[in-house]
Amino acid sequence: MSFNRKFSRKNTRSYKWDLPRLTGPRPDDIIALSVADSDYPTAPVVRRALEKRVRHGAFGYTYIDEDFYRATADWSERRYGYRPEPGWMFSTPGVVNAIYWTIRACVAPGEAVVIQPPIYHPFYRVVPDAGATLALNVLRDTGKSYEIDFSDLEKKFRSGAKMLIFCSPHNPAGRVWSRAELERLVGLARKYDVILASDEIHCDFILFENRFTSLGSFFSEYQKIVVFIAPSKTFNLAGLRFSLIIAPDADIRRRIEEKLDRNYAGAANPLSIEAARAAYERGDSWLARQRAHIEENVRFLEAYFRENIPEAIVYRAEGTYLAWVKMAFLNRPAERMTEELIDYGLAVNPGSIYGDAYGDFIRINVACPLPRLEEGLRRLCRYVADIKRSRL
Ligand SMILES: Cc1ncc(COP(=O)(O)O)c(C=O)c1O
Repeated sequence: MSFNRKFSRKNTRSYKWDLPRLTGPRPDDIIALSVADSDYPTAPVVRRALEKRVRHGAFGYTYIDEDFYRATADWSERRYGYRPEPGWMFSTPGVVNAIYWTIRACVAPGEAVVIQPPIYHPFYRVVPDAGATLALNVLRDTGKSYEIDFSDLEKKFRSGAKMLIFCSPHNPAGRVWSRAELERLVGLARKYDVILASDEIHCDFILFENRFTSLGSFFSEYQKIVVFIAPSKTFNLAGLRFSLIIAPDADIRRRIEEKLDRNYAGAANPLSIEAARAAYERGDSWLARQRAHIEENVRFLEAYFRENIPEAIVYRAEGTYLAWVKMAFLNRPAERMTEELIDYGLAVNPGSIYGDAYGDFIRINVACPLPRLEEGLRRLCRYVADIKRSRL
């Protein structure tokens, strides 16, 4: 399968492609490089498994069996280097949902939960929605990348934070955290008895020479780690609403399980289970091809900016399929930029949704056919050229 084949998601009730058209008149040929899902079909092995299940025709109440958990453990062992026990895993209808219940289960009302801006915007809401208090450990900007400000993090931990919602790889910063950084993080968490809740939803997109270390590989040293994974970004299945919580600590697990159970929040959906199992059992080679495609698109985007918009700063994408680009030279708030870009036929995300301090940034999703990315960047370039011309 070619990831460059023409493929339209319009008129499929796509959040990215169709929903914005309902909110007002828009040019019909907008290129959406925004919401983090992909613009090519899922792996053929996943589609075949779904087709077979659909042909059966009955979609009644379903449970998740041991074989499914075995397939997930095999995938994790093969790809992330640690093997979760079947009893450590349970499902929820999405990672944000899982994070919400994990906070509710493990953090008392009013206690602090740390997040690391710039950060995937629902983290700002999910913490207060779950009754906790937000604490911001802002990532340190090194010019083209980010690092963790460990001394600030230690202050937050020392003053009583109960949990860190960690994003690994990081959206939107694109960081793949090194083993050394994670060792330091786990050391600090252990010292202050803080739970590390690690959102690893993007961990199948590790680009170029970078190496992923899951916080799950620290389970034997420190049990107060909860890892969230999902086949949703990896196999373009986000609409099927399925993700997994992996928690080795019996007390944490009992608390989360109790919350899910009491709130009827399980996710044993017959289609998503079928899709996830096929993906984890037989999706490796398709994923390898997809990753090569993303790398090609990232290289293209970086070269395009170098040649055509050299004043922009493209942050180093070590992982994810999201480019984080600083457009400060335009001297325009991100929201205005993204609104104006709509008239040029391009939708991207404004940096301001990832934190107040990021109004100079845009986020560009490159999980699409290369010709579409190319055309999207051409539109961005026209917009930039028009602004420059208007200032002469
Ligand atoms: C870091 C991160 N976590 C979670 C999600 C959403 O996951 P879900 O749809 O499973 O809640 C996203 C989607 O973009 C994401 O980037």
